[in-house]
This record gives sequence, C-alpha cells and structure tokens, in this order.
Amino acid sequence: MSFSRAFESLFLAALLLGGGILTQVGCFSFNFPDFPDKEFLKLSDNSRIFKGAIQVTLDSRSENLENKSGRAFYETPFRLWSKSKGGVTASFNTTFQLNINNMTNPGGEGLAFILAADTTLPEGSDGQWLGIVNASTNGSAQVVAVEFDTRQSYPEDLEDFHVGLDVNSIYSIQQVSLRGLGITLANISAANDTWARVEYDGENITVSVNGTGEYMPLIMSLPLNLSAYLPEMVYVGFSASTSNDTQLNCVRSWKFEGEDIDEGLELLWVWITIPAGVIVIISGIVFYLFWERKHREQPEDAYPRIEDQIRGSSMAPRKFKLRELRRATGNFNPRNELGKGGFGTVYKGLLADKEVAVKRVSKDSRQGKQEFIAEVTTIGSLRHKNLVKLIGWCYEKGELLIVYEYMPNSSLDKFIFGDEKLGLQQPPLSWERRHTIIHGVALALDYLHNGCEKRVLHRDIKASNIMLDSDFSAKLGDFGLARTIQQKDVTHHSTKEVAGTPGYMAPETFLVGRATVETDVYAFGVLVLEVICGRKPGNQGDQHNSYNNGIVYWLWELRRKDRILDAVDSKLAGEFVEDEMTGMLLLGLACCHPNPNQRPSMKTVLQVLKGEAPPPLLPAERPAFVWPAMPPSFKEDTDNAFIKSQLTPFTELAGR
Ligand SMILES: *[C@@H]1O[C@H](CO)[C@@H](O)[C@H](O)[C@H]1NC(C)=O
Ligand SMILES: *[C@@H]1O[C@H](CO)[C@@H](O)[C@H](O)[C@H]1NC(C)=O
Ligand SMILES: *[C@@H]1O[C@H](CO)[C@@H](O)[C@H](O)[C@H]1NC(C)=O
Ligand SMILES: *[C@@H]1O[C@H](CO)[C@@H](O)[C@H](O)[C@H]1NC(C)=O
Ligand SMILES: *[C@@H]1O[C@H](CO)[C@@H](O)[C@H](O)[C@H]1NC(C)=O
Ligand SMILES: *[C@@H]1O[C@H](CO)[C@@H](O)[C@H](O)[C@H]1NC(C)=O
Ligand SMILES: *[C@@H]1O[C@H](CO)[C@@H](O)[C@H](O)[C@H]1NC(C)=O
Repeated sequence: MSFSRAFESLFLAALLLGGGILTQVGCFSFNFPDFPDKEFLKLSDNSRIFKGAIQVTLDSRSENLENKSGRAFYETPFRLWSKSKGGVTASFNTTFQLNINNMTNPGGEGLAFILAADTTLPEGSDGQWLGIVNASTNGSAQVVAVEFDTRQSYPEDLEDFHVGLDVNSIYSIQQVSLRGLGITLANISAANDTWARVEYDGENITVSVNGTGEYMPLIMSLPLNLSAYLPEMVYVGFSASTSNDTQLNCVRSWKFEGEDIDEGLELLWVWITIPAGVIVIISGIVFYLFWERKHREQPEDAYPRIEDQIRGSSMAPRKFKLRELRRATGNFNPRNELGKGGFGTVYKGLLADKEVAVKRVSKDSRQGKQEFIAEVTTIGSLRHKNLVKLIGWCYEKGELLIVYEYMPNSSLDKFIFGDEKLGLQQPPLSWERRHTIIHGVALALDYLHNGCEKRVLHRDIKASNIMLDSDFSAKLGDFGLARTIQQKDVTHHSTKEVAGTPGYMAPETFLVGRATVETDVYAFGVLVLEVICGRKPGNQGDQHNSYNNGIVYWLWELRRKDRILDAVDSKLAGEFVEDEMTGMLLLGLACCHPNPNQRPSMKTVLQVLKGEAPPPLLPAERPAFVWPAMPPSFKEDTDNAFIKSQLTPFTELAGR
C-alpha cells in the first residue's frame, strides 16, 4: 500500500466518521437570485429574459409595448393538494422582487403572482385583465392571483398602486392601497424595487410588501381554501399586462418553498460530515498535496473513456441528460440535499413523479471517477431485492451523477446509533426488524459473492451503507468501492486495493493489502454485532483499526466471561428470545474470526439465519490472529471453483 493511498484512505475514513442530523426538507423549492436564462421557466409569447430579470411583458427594446399580456411560470407544476390524501393542502412561501418601470405617465397595467391550472396565456388578457383572465373567462378561470396593480382600470378598483387578492376573476376579494402605505409600486423616472412575500399555510393567505426588502410588513391576511378553487397540480409564476399606457413588468428575483405533501412534512435525513478533529485537517492537507501531485502527473481520463467503460459493461443502465437531473433536483438545490459523503452529495429528486436519489460525485476527484465507473458498472448490472436499485447515470459537462431509487427511511446507522449531537433519536428498531435487516444484508452479500454472473466484492459494508425502504427492508447501497472480479486477473479471488472503513476492516487487511470475500464477511460480522448491540464498531478516532479495542474484542471478552447477552442493546428492553440472540451474536463473532479461513461463507451465514444450520461453534476465548493465515487456500484449485461454489466451508469450523 502506497503512502498516498494510506493517507487517502485515512482522509476518507475521517470524513466518513460523521454524525447525522435530522432536518425538515420541503421538496418543491427553488431560488432564483436572478434569471440568467430561461432555464426552468415556461415563458409565454411577449415574455422574455432580459438583463437578468423576467420581463413578463415585453422589455424596453420593443417598439410597441402597448396592449400586451404575458405569463412566466416555473416549468414544473406544484402539488397544491391531494385528493387521495383526504384533501390535504400544501403550504408554501414565496418571496419575489418586482421592478416596474413606467413607460407612460401613468403606467399600466400591473403585475401579478399567480397560481394557475395551466400555463396558457388567455387571448385578450391585456389591458385591465393583467394576463390573469380575459373577458370571457373572468369569473370561471381556475386561477388565484395576488395582483400588484398600477392603475385603476374599473370603478371597483382602488386608485393606482394597490395589492389585491383575485380568485378566478379580476375583481379582487380584498384590496389594500400601497399608496396609502407610502409604497411607490411604479415610477417613470426611477425604476424602484418592490419586495413582496406571499405565505400560505393551508388555511390563510398573507401578503407582505416593502419597497426596500429589509422588512416586509404584513399588509393582508385572510382565510382562503385554495383547494376549493384550484386543481391538485398548479403552475406558479407571474402574469402582467399593458394597455395603451405601458410599463416594464420585471421580476428580478424569486424564491419559492413549497411543502411536499406526498411526503408530508416527514423528517428526512441530512448527513453532516463533522470534522473528526485535527486529523481531518491534517490528513486533508496531506491528501490534497498528494492529490494535486497525482493530478499533475496523470491527466484525467477523457470523457469518452468513462462513457466507453460504462457502455461496454453488460446491461448498462439508462443514461440521463444533465438537464433532466438538474430539473429533477431543482438544480441541485441545497434544500433537496439528502446526504453528503466523501465522494459527493446526494439529492432528492423527482423524475416523472417518481422519487429518486441523485448522487452528484465531487467533480474534481480522480477517486470520484473510479468510484463512479465502479458503481455504475457493478450495481448497474445487478438485480436483487436487497440491493439499492440503480436507475441511471449521467456524465456531462464534468458532472458525474448516479440515480438510485429513493429510500424513505434513509440509512441504518440513523436507527441504531441515533444522533448524540442533536439528541434526536429515531424510535428504536425492534429485534424482529433488526433480524430482518441482518437477513436482508446477508441475502444481498450472498448474491454478490455467489449468486451473480461475476463475483462482486462490496468492500464497504457498514451501517451507513445499508439503506432502509419504507417497510424497513434493508438494501445494500454505495458500491463506490465495489470491484467486479474478472477471472483473468484473479489471484486469490481478491482485489488489490485496500479500501473500506476503519472498524469494519478485517485484521489481515493491512497485512495482505487486498480485499477478499472473507474481508466482506468480516465487515458483515461487525455489522451484525453493531445492529444487535446498538454500538459503533470501534474506537472512533482510531485510524489503524486496532483489533484490540473495537466491538469485536469487547464481545470476545464478554464471551470469555460467559456473559455475551450483556452486549445486547438495552433499547430492546429484553424483548427477544435468548437462545436466538446468543446464536446471532456467535454468528457475528464467527464472521469476525481473526483468521479469514475460519470465517463462514455467506451461504453458511444464511443457513444459520434460516435455522437450517446450528449457530457456529466458537472457542471460549478469542483465538490468536495467525499470519500468514493457515491452510493455504484450497479454494483456488480450479479457475471455476469460486464462481458458484461455497468458498470457505463452514463445516471446517463446525466440525471441531
Ligand atoms: C413558511 O414560512 C413560515 C414562517 O414564516 C414557516 O413556519 C413555514 O414552515 C414555511 N413553509 C414552508 C413550506 O417553507
Ligand atoms: C379568452 O381566452 C380563451 C382561451 O385562451 C379563448 O378561447 C377566448 O376566446 C378568450 N376570450 C376573449 C374574449 O378573448
Ligand atoms: C418617482 O420618483 C421620483 C424620484 O424618486 C419622485 O420625486 C416622484 O414623486 C416619484 N413619482 C411617483 C409617481 O411616485
Ligand atoms: C387563520 O386565520 C384565522 C383568523 O384570523 C385564525 O383563527 C386561524 O388560527 C388561522 N389559521 C392558521 C392555520 O393560522
Ligand atoms: C376546502 O375545499 C375542499 C373542496 O371544496 C373541501 O373538500 C375541504 O373540506 C375544504 N377545506 C376546508 C378546511 O374547508
Ligand atoms: C390598445 O388598446 C386601446 C384600447 O382598446 C386602443 O385604443 C389602442 O389603439 C390599442 N393600441 C394598439 C397599438 O393596438
Ligand atoms: C389610453 O386610453 C384611455 C381610454 O381607454 C384614455 O383615457 C387614455 O388617455 C389613453 N392614454 C394614452 C396614453 O393614450
């Protein structure tokens, strides 16, 4: 193992030693501090992007600004309410900055924030109709608007600057004069900004307005049942119009935060990687220096190579366009962030109404590219109910993206360790659930080792890589370190790079310097013990995976004292069958046998889990770690032996 590789692993390991926090994330949200182009927007005729703003009606370059109307919407609709969920209505907040510049004195006619059933600009909606309705749809259109009117266009209208709430009609159900509040909505000599915020909590709608943006006093608040007037899915955006009096109707910034009622206000998880002390900083700097040098020496792989490698693999998953994934995740909106890890950030996204998780691999890491290819080519071709499903990938403009199925219950570590930092605790998992999770992971690992066409080593089994479905069934994820083993380059059915997470790495890893089927089994054993004991695998600050102070050693100690059940998570409150639990602990320990040849294969593990084989017999004391491992592998006698057969027959051990 090279020095740089060691630091790399160390650095990554340190990054992975993070804690999780829970946060509320509303999914339908976006923020346009300005509008560089019309991406993500749906603009009608007469509506443009100019000077970093939406010109809802024509901009100043146009000769004839008269009698125009326009509409500009965010391109994907927002779920306002849900019939199937018993009529539950979403809340939303939106803040925008308007800039209305009169071209005549007075100007005309006005600008409105609207929620509409469809994006079509009604014909003849210029003049007094503000692009909201026209003479024939007035009163029957499915549209709700907060109008910022600059003119009195009919007797019921307040004189010039006012805000009105319009429901299906241009006639406001409530109006407030802005002139009376000292707010100049439009001016011919100086284009001034007006900030406004509209909030809806599912029951009441409020509007706040200010000329300066710092503090927006509430100017209107009234109860409104939006679901009574609007369809379930609505488009959100702006409309405006001019008449023979004209103005420039600009929106300069726009932020929208909508509640995701498909999810409810569920607690979604966000990984916060916390610095594991000085070691992260130091190893970070060292890693960076190595990384930089490596990069200078070896130019990055060219784009076609990534594509070729993925396309060349069997059953390549779907390739997405960057644009599709940007749209799905609200342009990688931080509010859609599900997690952050050493290799990038995971976002929640919506692809054709299906929730997905999109992993955005850090652009500038070489490691990232290898991981990316490994991940797409390995899980891309695997199908198993206990593996996280890979839906597709994208490599465009230097962005490496992987799309997975979305896992509502995030990862196992959140449930077994909780989060000490914030004191937030998930309800403890019952023993039945824990057993099902262990069984699921064992099935997945057996499939990788023995069940699929090419053997796959996962190399990074750990609680944070076990994702949980809505019914808490386990799905093994994060194949960034996985390696497919091709027969031709196999010696010892292993792969030469050392990688993984301290605490889960078998004692021989650092000596033999490669991952094997047995090192995966070891990590699985650690996982079993963690899940039962509700403890992290080892001394967190320990960089060298010292075999002597982790969970494995601790359990051997309890076994020696014949008190192994003391290890069981107290949160289970004794609700389990003691014999079954003892068997599971022994199985976990057997997987963590110091000598790789003595560890059971995943096939055997499954037999024990299903009760088809007795729990392994183990010595009463921790066996010594012997190296080199004893019987030279009898498993590699023929090239094919390891493809379908059981590698390390457990009978060896059981027979003693
Ligand atoms: C809207 O803002 C209010 C505070 O003004 C906040 O309580 C609420 O959670 C926000 N709603 C959404 C959907 O972001
Ligand atoms: C109003 O708009 C609808 C839809 O665009 C159109 O069919 C209708 O003719 C318009 N009515 C008027 C009076 O312009
Ligand atoms: C427009 O702005 C100028 C300068 O700020 C001000 O003197 C004038 O009164 C404003 N006009 C209106 C209609 O508010
Ligand atoms: C809506 O407004 C009414 C009247 O002001 C108030 O009683 C009610 O609590 C408000 N609802 C919510 C959800 O804030
Ligand atoms: C809102 O309107 C819908 C449709 O008319 C109705 O089913 C629902 O009960 C109303 N909600 C409230 C809070 O009145
Ligand atoms: C705009 O509409 C007004 C009132 O309908 C009309 O008098 C005027 O001629 C129209 N202007 C243009 C350029 O069509
Ligand atoms: C616009 O038309 C209205 C009548 O529709 C008229 O009162 C007003 O003077 C006209 N304005 C201009 C600038 O021609």
